[in-house]
Amino acid sequence: MTTVTVTGASGRLGRTVTALLAAEGFEVRALSRTGRADDGGVRWMTADLTTGEGLAEAVAGADTVVHLASAPYRGRYTRRVELDGTGRLLTRARAAGVGHLLYVSIVGVDQVPLGYYRAKLAAERLVREGGVPWTTLRATQFHEFAAGAIAATARLGVVVADPGIPFQPVDVRDVAGRLVSLIRRGPSEEVEEYGGPEVLTMAEAARLWLRARGSRRPLLRVRVPGRLGRAFRAGHLTTSALPKGEITWRDYLEG
Ligand SMILES: NC(=O)c1ccc[n+]([C@@H]2O[C@H](COP(=O)([O-])OP(=O)(O)OC[C@H]3O[C@@H](n4cnc5c(N)ncnc54)[C@H](OP(=O)(O)O)[C@@H]3O)[C@@H](O)[C@H]2O)c1
Repeated sequence: MTTVTVTGASGRLGRTVTALLAAEGFEVRALSRTGRADDGGVRWMTADLTTGEGLAEAVAGADTVVHLASAPYRGRYTRRVELDGTGRLLTRARAAGVGHLLYVSIVGVDQVPLGYYRAKLAAERLVREGGVPWTTLRATQFHEFAAGAIAATARLGVVVADPGIPFQPVDVRDVAGRLVSLIRRGPSEEVEEYGGPEVLTMAEAARLWLRARGSRRPLLRVRVPGRLGRAFRAGHLTTSALPKGEITWRDYLEG
């Protein structure tokens, strides 16, 4: 039986991918900093990327490591998890003879001037040079993440969105399915991309979100300023890569 260790298993994507892997008959080790009871074929193990605690045990005998743990937009802690943590994971995985490390990154990390994206790009390099056969999958924004960002602005009384920014949200169920295919296929030693089925503008996505919730909040169309806005408007959050997800933003909002 193929053994798969998943870092960040308690997160948005991690919860879905661990459940899918267990349903598909993989032996699943799910990592979290917090102890959890095993459930539905998923064995939880405690590990912390910033200290290395639990990592050696978690990767010993694993065929594949799916690396999802991340701490976005938290300054120095972000880099400790993304860079030092990924480095530590690679060292332990190499020592254990892991056959495939699958790292999930973000479409546009090489183009969008955000500190978090720079950290992910640097982590991609560590993965490439880490001595463990690898695949990096850059995904577009998850539906839950996009919905959370819109809901956060709605709490201010209005929904703010840039009508000039194209983005291509993807469902974690589709990303999880793609990851399972990549585990079965094995390492490509390439950076691959995966996006949602359609490209929407941020304002269009916000309008659909408001309608799905029956919200009467006004939609304020605002251009994101500076280099960041230019990078977003240039389409760097989208990809033409195939295959792509099937679950649309509308499907997600109706579900
Ligand atoms: N969200 C998006 O829209 C999106 C889009 C494209 C790519 N991605 C990438 O996909 C991956 C998963 O994203 P997500 O949104 O599912 O993540 P998430 O919900 O933010 O979960 C991240 C997980 O990382 C774990 N973690 C944080 N610090 C840790 C540490 N020091 N040691 C070990 N684990 C730690 C946390 O687990 P515990 O608290 O249980 O320890 C948490 O469950 C990330 O690499 C992200 O960059 C995300």
